[in-house]
Amino acid sequence: MYIVLEGIDGAGKSTQIKILKEWLEDNGFNVETIVEPTDLEVGKLIRELLTRSDAESDSMQKTFGLLFAADRLMLMDRIGRLENENTVVISDRSFYSSLAYQNPQDWIKELNKYAKIPDLVLLLDLDVKKSVERCDGTDEFENEEFLTGVKQNYLDLAKSNDNFKIIDANNGPNKVSSDIKKAVAPLFDICKDCIL
Ligand code: TYD
Repeated sequence: MYIVLEGIDGAGKSTQIKILKEWLEDNGFNVETIVEPTDLEVGKLIRELLTRSDAESDSMQKTFGLLFAADRLMLMDRIGRLENENTVVISDRSFYSSLAYQNPQDWIKELNKYAKIPDLVLLLDLDVKKSVERCDGTDEFENEEFLTGVKQNYLDLAKSNDNFKIIDANNGPNKVSSDIKKAVAPLFDICKDCIL
């Protein structure tokens, strides 16, 4: 099972991934987490480039499209191996981030055609103003105008992909985690009504 958390910056993905991992482990499952961009060679380069003042420019966005796709491709064998070992993979972001943040969509889709399709995408949907408040502003993408577009792209993706589940991330962390557990429970035959 390959489960992905998506959402604009500051949506709470990393906190919720920790909670979800522990909960699945308590229910007897082996779980590994991954993060995009990775801490591999290409991922490190991406993190460095994200702080550039021209990171939002058209040519840099296309460069990011290529780099994110390459960084992701390096992860695919690992995900496949983990799945073969019956380990649940929870990922902080996936190729859907590239579809939401980069463009043009057709080209991004082509670049990511070897990326695995997640079984479930939990879209943590947060108000853009809250996102900007929560972000430290180190990445050039962390501004209101850009993130408004990204949020809309995510909502469009949720409409056209059956594997998406929208979670209201404006709620407190406990409510968000219980909504996430309720969305995940049916995949693992865990009793949904037992979740508080
Ligand atoms: P992330 O590490 O999730 O953000 P944060 O620093 O808030 O923890 O991701 C770094 C940035 O990269 C974030 O602004 C989203 C962006 N991104 C893309 O633009 N395309 C992608 O394909 C991915 C995976 C991330």
